[in-house]
Amino acid sequence: MRLENRVAIVTGGAAGIGEAICIRLAEEGSRVAILDIDIEGAQNTAQEIEKAGSEALALEVDVSKSAEVDTAVKQVISRFGTVDILVNNAGICISDKINGMADELWDRTHDVNLKGVFLCCRAVIPHMKERRYGKILNISSILGLTGSPAMVHYGAAKTGVIGFTRGLATELGPYNINVNAVGPASIHTQLLEQETTPEVRERLQEKIPLRRIGDPIDVANAVLFLVSDEASYITGQCLFVCGGFSASAGLV
Ligand SMILES: NC(=O)c1ccc[n+]([C@@H]2O[C@H](COP(=O)([O-])OP(=O)(O)OC[C@H]3O[C@@H](n4cnc5c(N)ncnc54)[C@H](O)[C@@H]3O)[C@@H](O)[C@H]2O)c1
Repeated sequence: MRLENRVAIVTGGAAGIGEAICIRLAEEGSRVAILDIDIEGAQNTAQEIEKAGSEALALEVDVSKSAEVDTAVKQVISRFGTVDILVNNAGICISDKINGMADELWDRTHDVNLKGVFLCCRAVIPHMKERRYGKILNISSILGLTGSPAMVHYGAAKTGVIGFTRGLATELGPYNINVNAVGPASIHTQLLEQETTPEVRERLQEKIPLRRIGDPIDVANAVLFLVSDEASYITGQCLFVCGGFSASAGLV
């Protein structure tokens, strides 16, 4: 197994892409702590992990709250003894045009999608540095690379995640800590369902070179590779898991 004896923290693991990441890492031998505001969903994922033959810990945490994050990381270390892998996946996406966008929507989007990444990294890094081992994986988005109407706040935060990833990779490389990002596009989850109609998803599919909406497992498999030792010479990169969308000019 590729992650035997590893301990992973996955934020936003109660649903969607995060849930698929939790289960994929567990299938490869990792114990997994799920940090999510949705504790019932996190507990369901924990049961799935146990069914996959590994151990899990579900914790109710808002990643934008530093005290909650710090306490949760201490709980994980106390339960499992260490943290080898951090996957910052928790995110929100509520579309709105810039005219009249409320300060609260801008702030919350950045607090969860960008500040949450900073807070979780800050909490685990001293431990990883001491052990001179760690894998940090941040979930960005295709909108960290391209733009879309009514998404300026989300795109700004997700572009920030890529900049944060690059900077942190240079700072932590000397400690043998890899920091990478994955940028999904159009993955079938509740987030995509809330933000699009079936007609929009139909049109989206036609613009994707591989002609299908992605599945959470497509993202989970990329994450698994980047947090495994097979990717030990890769750091500071963002891998777009987007069916080729980032490569296409969309002309036909
Ligand atoms: N689905 C897509 O098409 C898509 C595309 C690009 C990027 N992403 C990114 O992938 C990640 C996962 O998205 P998804 O589609 O699975 O979303 P989702 O809404 O299905 O799941 C998000 C999870 O994050 C949790 N969460 C939200 N706010 C939180 C907070 N403050 N603290 C802790 N947990 C919190 C939710 O409870 C939920 O379990 C997000 O970062 C999202 O921006 C998704």
